[in-house]
Amino acid sequence: MRKLVVGNWKMNGVASDLAEIAAIAEKSLSYPAVESALCLPATLISRACDIAQDLPIGGQDCHIQPSGAHTGCVSADMLVDAGASLTIVGHSERRAAQHEQDHEVLAKAQAAHKAGLKVIICVGETLAERDAGNALHIVLGQVAGSLPQNISGDWLSVAYEPVWAIGTGRIPEMADVREMHGAIRAALVDRYGTIGNSVRILYGGSMNGDNAAELLAVENVDGGLIGGASLTCAKFEPILAAA
Ligand code: G3H
Repeated sequence: MRKLVVGNWKMNGVASDLAEIAAIAEKSLSYPAVESALCLPATLISRACDIAQDLPIGGQDCHIQPSGAHTGCVSADMLVDAGASLTIVGHSERRAAQHEQDHEVLAKAQAAHKAGLKVIICVGETLAERDAGNALHIVLGQVAGSLPQNISGDWLSVAYEPVWAIGTGRIPEMADVREMHGAIRAALVDRYGTIGNSVRILYGGSMNGDNAAELLAVENVDGGLIGGASLTCAKFEPILAAA
C-alpha cells in the first residue's frame, strides 16, 4: 500500500500561511507514489481547499453530534461542508487537555465516518507508562477501546504517537517502533481478520527529514503523522521524498 504522510498543523496557521499550504500542495504533486494530506485548524479548511489542488485537507477533531448546542465545537458534517475529506480524532493533546476517553474517541470516529470523512485515530503512551513497562498494554487498550466494530473499506488509519516523542526531538528506538507497530497490526488482524492488514498504521512524534527514511522503513509503519515538520514546505518535502 502507498505510504500516507499527513501533516497536522495543530493550532497553527492563519491567512498569511495559505501560501505555504499552496506550496505544499504543489510539491505533493511531485510525489504521486505517496498519499499526503494536511490537517488544518477548522478556520483555514475552506480557504485551503480552494488552493490545495489534489492535496486532501482535513480537520483535527470533530464533535460526536452533527449539530446542536455545543458552543465552540465543530461537527464532522461541518468539516465536510468546509471541504475536508479526513480528520484526526483522539490526538494525545486532546486526550490530555480535554480528557477525551476511548469511548469518546470511538464515537467521534464513527461520527466522522458517517459524515463521509476518512479518519485517523491516535494512540500512544506517556513516558511514565513506557518507563513502567506498560506501553504495549496502554496502547493496545486504546486500540481496543477507540476503534469501531466495523472498519470495512479504507477509511480508517491508526497513528501510533508516543506522547514523549511529540514535539521533543526524541524518537523511540527502531526496535521499539517495530514492536509496537507489530503489536498493533496483530491486534487489528485478530479483531478484524484480513481487513486488519489493510489499515494503515502511521508513526507520529518528532518525525522529520532526517529520521523519516529510517522510521518509514520499519515493518508495519505505513506512513507518518507529522506536526512541526509539516508547517513549511521546506521541512515537509524531505519526508515526502523519504516515503
Ligand atoms: O500529530 C502530530 C504529532 O503530534 C507529532 O508532532 O511532529 O511536532 O512531534 P511533532
